Amino acid sequence: MERTYVMVKPDGVQRNLIGEIIFRFEKKGLKIVGLKMMQISRELAERHYGEHRGKPFFEPLVEYITSGPVVAMALEGKDAVSTAREMMGATNPLKAAQGTIRGTFGMDIGRNVVHGSDSTESAARELGLFFAPGELVEYKREL
Ligand code: CMP
Repeated sequence: MERTYVMVKPDGVQRNLIGEIIFRFEKKGLKIVGLKMMQISRELAERHYGEHRGKPFFEPLVEYITSGPVVAMALEGKDAVSTAREMMGATNPLKAAQGTIRGTFGMDIGRNVVHGSDSTESAARELGLFFAPGELVEYKREL
């Protein structure tokens, strides 16, 4: 079954949106197989966002993502990567469809509430960065 990495960003935590965001993924049917609150180090931020190194928004992005705690999640389900991304909406909250997480709760491309892996390859890489193997669980869930 496919897994993806999703993270409530510092603005989502500051604005008391943790529950709302987890609620949406859980109710949709994505299975939570990893979950933790954490403070991201500069080193981890630079690795996570490595593909954006050199872009004008890279430094502010690293500053911001390390500015406060985040909630890291591993979600599992059919087409988990694309399903989670659809639920989040476009990167720029002003362009995100109404009803999506960013479309509902965001106004700023930098402070866009959530992050989600953009491919199965990114998901594997990001899950490996944020979770030790023993932190991801396997369990049966009756629907
Ligand atoms: P995220 O999905 O976490 O991945 C990269 C992040 O860079 C993105 O969400 C945005 O929050 C952030 N970002 C800031 N400025 C820009 C920009 N101009 N274009 C794309 N992403 C940006």
